[in-house]
Amino acid sequence: MTEVADLRAVFGDRLQENVLLAPYTSARIGGPADFLVMVKSAEELGAAASHLWEMKLPFVMLGGGSNVLVSERGVRGVVILNRAKEVRFMRGENPKVWVESGVIFSNLANRCAALGLGGLEWAATVPGTIGGAVHGNAGAFGGEVAGHLIYADLLTERGREQWPVEKLEYGYRTSSLKRGAARAVVLAAELSLKNATVEEVSVKIAQFSARRKATQPPGASMGSMFKNPPGDFAGRLIDAAGLKGTRIGNAEISAVHGNFFVNRGETRASDVRALIELAQKEVFETFGVHLELEVELIGEW
Ligand code: EPU
Repeated sequence: MTEVADLRAVFGDRLQENVLLAPYTSARIGGPADFLVMVKSAEELGAAASHLWEMKLPFVMLGGGSNVLVSERGVRGVVILNRAKEVRFMRGENPKVWVESGVIFSNLANRCAALGLGGLEWAATVPGTIGGAVHGNAGAFGGEVAGHLIYADLLTERGREQWPVEKLEYGYRTSSLKRGAARAVVLAAELSLKNATVEEVSVKIAQFSARRKATQPPGASMGSMFKNPPGDFAGRLIDAAGLKGTRIGNAEISAVHGNFFVNRGETRASDVRALIELAQKEVFETFGVHLELEVELIGEW
């Protein structure tokens, strides 16, 4: 197969074939990628994406794998696993941080705390990477990426571009990138921070962590499955429809929070999908509200 030879020529030993994706997702669900390439810097990520665009081979970006449901048939083509991890703090009156897109957001927030830099406390319990967070405008406890991003370094088919926050046209859990404005990969981001003390930042983080622990289930899941519909909450609606604890196979609507679907062990993606459809149907029939997925469906369905 020439495709393999071409990929081998570009990526050498970094090219892995037929790799199960479940271990790379927070839900621990999903079939194999035909090919997987792990990148360890924004430079490597940019080079990998350009090569694949040039070769006209489709690829899927995977960061923390926390906001995706990967099908059991898996992904045809290449998955780029983003492990670009450089972080540069800029201290001073208006502190900032430049961070590569493979950094785990919660790790960044905790590193900020250790330096007495505030602003990102809300993100200390947000799973996933900066790349995913910039793409989907991740948020929690009243904070969201849109409120902190200064610019994103992207690779588009035109080359490297710096997009100021306005150009990302952020909305609730969405962006111009997520809406498909450009074929682009997030390489890095610059975020604004605030001077504070280690104590102040740590106390806020501890409060947010306690709230999350009290309201969200532990264990393997994709985080919130649906976006909150305008003026209401997906979790409340699923709860009020009497669906908490409902199970299909080993996929379960959490008894703790209706908008979390948990993996009870060896769960099939198709069972999660069936549970998604069941929740959408029941909530629509009971309340006339359509629940829109926050989680992205990846791979061959
Ligand atoms: N509720 C119920 N039953 C449930 C779950 C929730 O009645 O089973 C009610 C709660 O009592 C509350 C309301 O629904 O009145 C909202 O619930 P909660 O405070 O838990 O927040 P959420 O809207 O479900 C959002 C984000 C989370 C984020 C939390 C905390 C979305 C879709 N989800 O959850 O983000 O952590 O607020 O800020 O916006 C994520 O996006 O993956 C995520 C986890």
